[in-house]
Amino acid sequence: MSTAYESLVRPVLYRLGRGDAEVAHEQTLHGLRRLSRVPGAVSALSRTYGALPGSLATTVFGVRFPSPVGLAAGMDKNGIALPAWRALGFGFVEVGTVTAHPQPGNEKPRLFRLVQSEAVINRMGFNNLGSAALAERLSAYGELGYPLGISIGKSKVTPLEEAVEDYVTSLRRLYRFGDYFAVNVSSPNTPGLRSLQDAGHLRELLTALRAEAGALSGAGQSSSAGEAVPGSAGPHPKPILVKIAPDLTEAAIDELLGVCTDVGVAGIIATNTTIGRPGIAPADQATAAETGGLSGRPLTEISAKTVAHIHAETGGALPIIGVGGVLDPDDAGRLLDAGASLVQIYTGLIYRGPGLVRRTNRLLASRNPS
Ligand code: FNR
Repeated sequence: MSTAYESLVRPVLYRLGRGDAEVAHEQTLHGLRRLSRVPGAVSALSRTYGALPGSLATTVFGVRFPSPVGLAAGMDKNGIALPAWRALGFGFVEVGTVTAHPQPGNEKPRLFRLVQSEAVINRMGFNNLGSAALAERLSAYGELGYPLGISIGKSKVTPLEEAVEDYVTSLRRLYRFGDYFAVNVSSPNTPGLRSLQDAGHLRELLTALRAEAGALSGAGQSSSAGEAVPGSAGPHPKPILVKIAPDLTEAAIDELLGVCTDVGVAGIIATNTTIGRPGIAPADQATAAETGGLSGRPLTEISAKTVAHIHAETGGALPIIGVGGVLDPDDAGRLLDAGASLVQIYTGLIYRGPGLVRRTNRLLASRNPS
């Protein structure tokens, strides 16, 4: 049975900008931004969507989440609608990916719906206003009242050899605003970026980010598990997570996990979009030829398998945020069953609307009654 969103709202959104998916995205985002500014609107929305039973709350890598269901990176890159997301029922939001330099991203069109496949292809290319602008916006919000993840990536103009400084710059600017930081080394839309998932590059990058986080938190020395070393005063550095591609071999994932454990990363976000083209319906074959990362239904199986593999490989020691192909509440349940502690949604919001968040919260609460 289709929901009111699917039968009434979605057809209107899909016609915006003569069917250009990015126009629908921009208008939705700006609508939510306007809503965030209307006194009373956010609280009215909260009453419908945002009420979260206490049994949903969970603490992961030292951060308390009111619900394990979060908004994935890329939807609100510049953090323009943050009050509204919480009112829709999300327990956390990951803003970004932002880069040290503001950048326009790739040429349009760069976002494509594959409706029969319940999928999207994007080659946005980290279009964002830059980490300095995000810091300014976040300082204007003040206390958000829910955890904020901040995803950082490499600017296109920065050569790969200088990537570390680019990421460190963004971490430094944004450190005081984030509850965790996601290191994006898995977008297929910045040339060379995914090579930062290789063990050597990754170790260098994560070591520098951990050192910077330690210095910024005033933690002095910290152990690889992020605990303050006895005798060194100060709070723990904030959690740093690594977001990985679904296209890595199991051997490559295992090598990456070894580095993450050595360096003291707080968790893994699995997964980003795929450069593969699985699960494409015949009607979408032509669109599937577009370059970019595929998300949505074709990722459901792959992300669950990746989460299960990471969970098994680490013996459950490394928290996982599961993301990819959550279009129905059961898909979120499956990621949690596979070993994820938190889940995120992006493409599901395009196909199912905000009711998906509410239904997912409801399902998870019923699995875990207080
Ligand atoms: C993304 N995604 C993404 N991820 C990220 O780490 N940084 C980013 O800037 C973006 N940008 C982005 C834009 C668009 C248009 C889409 C569709 C996706 C990936 C996203 O966070 C998520 O990992 C995947 O889309 C898989 O989840 P879903 O969409 O299947 O729920």
